[in-house]
Amino acid sequence: MKHHLNRRSFLGLSVAATAAAALAACTPAPAKTTPTTGQGTRILPTDPLVAEYEARRAATGKTVTKTLTPAPFSTTLAGKKVTTWGYDGALVAPTLRGTAGDQLDVTVANKLTEGTSIHWHGLAMRNNDDGVPGLTQEAIGAGKDYPYTFKLPHPGTYWYHSHVEMQRERALYGALVIEDPKEPLKYDRDWVIVLDDWLDGVTGTPDGTLKELAQGMGGMGGMSHGSGGMGSGGMLMGATSEFLGGDAGDVAYPFHLFNGRDPGNPETVEATAGERIRLRIINAAGDTAYRVGVPGQKLTLTHTDGFPVQHTEVDAAVLGMGERIDALLTVRDGYTPVLALAEGKGQMAYGLLSTGAGTAPALGSLPKTLEGTVVDGGQLAADPSVTLASKKPDRTHEVRLTGGMMSYDWGINDARFDMANPFENAFGLKAGERVEVKFTNETMMWHPMHIHGHTFQVGAAGARKDTVIVRPMQTVTVYFDADNPGQWLFHCHNAYHAERGMMGVFSYTK
Ligand code: C2O
Ligand code: CU
Repeated sequence: MKHHLNRRSFLGLSVAATAAAALAACTPAPAKTTPTTGQGTRILPTDPLVAEYEARRAATGKTVTKTLTPAPFSTTLAGKKVTTWGYDGALVAPTLRGTAGDQLDVTVANKLTEGTSIHWHGLAMRNNDDGVPGLTQEAIGAGKDYPYTFKLPHPGTYWYHSHVEMQRERALYGALVIEDPKEPLKYDRDWVIVLDDWLDGVTGTPDGTLKELAQGMGGMGGMSHGSGGMGSGGMLMGATSEFLGGDAGDVAYPFHLFNGRDPGNPETVEATAGERIRLRIINAAGDTAYRVGVPGQKLTLTHTDGFPVQHTEVDAAVLGMGERIDALLTVRDGYTPVLALAEGKGQMAYGLLSTGAGTAPALGSLPKTLEGTVVDGGQLAADPSVTLASKKPDRTHEVRLTGGMMSYDWGINDARFDMANPFENAFGLKAGERVEVKFTNETMMWHPMHIHGHTFQVGAAGARKDTVIVRPMQTVTVYFDADNPGQWLFHCHNAYHAERGMMGVFSYTK
């Protein structure tokens, strides 16, 4: 209902753009036809500057070509037939791989019965292909094809997902690995690990769950008490995490997926003892942080959100929704379980490395906790090669995270974002500026805050990231260089919080 309304207003507001798009079917429409503000003219996705900046990006001359087909399909999870939506008919979408500087040409062939898009999470790429309907393009209509074509900017572990409402809460997401032509890290091979909390087709649907949550605490119809949240789906009460500063999540899930597999059917990867494996861990979940580790073994964290960090040995790493962590692991003889504990929810997903010796551990025999040195990506220090040059900020934006569970009315600076009017409370900036953003969490819950199109630095020398955990009543200050003109969404990467309004726009003007 809401998205039809939004799409209609979007089209209504951009008559000229729609007419232009009809003439050149492949040209995305700009967000609005009222590009002026008190502070200048908005640099819309169609602005020639966007193409100019793209032309300046390094190029290898190679092209990676792929067609992705979002469509409904059926599969089996935990012994149950599940119908959901995904890319190319599988829970695990194709992992896209290229090298920094390659051109990525992806055609989306939309076989869904509604509009869709793809957002390339974490990429400092050209604005018109950022995949945000209502802001950078129109939704790709049912039955329509759409070409994304852009250069892969920085090496690292990224991912892609639909940016239409709750679609990524189905299986409309996949991994995107950008290789470094001069890779400095020594490892034998990588293992992409995509984690997700799953309920679609098992205990409900993401849209149904959102509806239930939207009734707020007053209408707690199908809520589940206590951690674990087995059974009815819907609202989860009492999931707590000291690490996350309190309430761990709002939504009860029947189980969690590790590369599309439920814990009754774990993925097993054959390996050789002594091999150094680079884990590329991606949290694609909607409402669950994962605590990832290997019992009895340290992980060496090397990257977060694609960018290198000072190597840090830990017992476990916590990833909020949208975050990625790369870690080195040396394979031991036998079976090595890689655990992903659903933080505060008493559940886990896992995968196994096997050298062929011994027998696979049973799910019930695996440890249910990972303690010791435990960090999240926002607590790591940047590798000096990617630390921002020191500079006084040209502009500071105070971004207060507001709202709560009572009426499930999440927002930014007390306002709920409205995609039909994306510039209403937009945060202005100009190319060339050093921008300081103060995320102040005034709510009783943690939020993984994500900025499109830029990789910010956490504090004075923290990690470069695109998604950072902000705990209750905490302020996290981040800095970025405004070097990618366009209109860029930012939001909490909790799918339910975002959809209920915790979003905003960084709006370049000239
Ligand atoms: Cu991964 Cu706007 O999102
Ligand atoms: Cu949030």
